Amino acid sequence: MVALSETRVEASADVAIDPRGVNSGVAPVTYGHGERPPRGDYAQARSDYTCEQDWAAYSAADHELYRRLYERQAAQLRGLACDQFIDAIGQLGSPAQIPRFDDLSERLRRATGWEVVAVPGLIPEEAFFSLLSQRRFPVTGWIRKPHEFDYVVEPDVFHDLFGHVPLLFNPMFADYMQAYGAGGLKASRLESCEHLARLYWYTVEFGLIDTPSGLRAYGAGILSSAGELRHSVTSREPQRLGFDLERIMRTRYRIDSYQSTYFVIDSFKQLFDATAPDFKPIYERVARLQELSADERLPSDRAF
Ligand SMILES: [Fe+2]
Repeated sequence: MVALSETRVEASADVAIDPRGVNSGVAPVTYGHGERPPRGDYAQARSDYTCEQDWAAYSAADHELYRRLYERQAAQLRGLACDQFIDAIGQLGSPAQIPRFDDLSERLRRATGWEVVAVPGLIPEEAFFSLLSQRRFPVTGWIRKPHEFDYVVEPDVFHDLFGHVPLLFNPMFADYMQAYGAGGLKASRLESCEHLARLYWYTVEFGLIDTPSGLRAYGAGILSSAGELRHSVTSREPQRLGFDLERIMRTRYRIDSYQSTYFVIDSFKQLFDATAPDFKPIYERVARLQELSADERLPSDRAF
């Protein structure tokens, strides 16, 4: 679902939240300072920000848009997406219609113990971390409009499902995502969310992996993007650097254009192992170091 940058948003304080959290609605969450009205119906959300998918509410045009988005992306996966993603994409079910989250969750639970849960859209960091730590992946219920076929600002159901869910069928990656959520809850207390957000951005959203057949994409932001998939793997423009946890935590990123730097992992195990140690001393070290621009190059970088 949402990258942390996507969750760097404000929940308006003037919406009363029933402490029992029963159908009382939650504060809508919007980008930046709330200039864009929220697209989802937050009044239907529970206190943990999950809601019902309301599958019956999708129109034939919604399903058709999903099918077109799916087919465009699926057609360019070979040679650009990692094998683990390609092997699992069929688990989403028929491309002809937006999947029912319940069916998908059943398959996911059997494979890795994860499930998908509907949310109205962007949700606050704490709620996001909390769901991940419970192996529940929040997926936005609504789908973009036809005029947003090539680009949508907020993540919609297509980005969240197509981009994120296939790799949740991979046991190692699934464990990484849970560890990330647990780490996020800790980072919130240490006020290190920005550092952790960069890790999410440069791995879960925009990560590349080195394989015997060459570089491949595993990040959801890349895999659900019509243009960035080929760009990230084959263009001469961006730099591609070896995964380095502290380097990533220091590096700012772009939210308004293709990335100028991609970080490359050797394996999902490398990613999982990198999140195993206690991040507290790492945050402290990184906080003392200078931040790096999105396109900076250091002598210590391992270039691909
Ligand atoms: Fe995402």
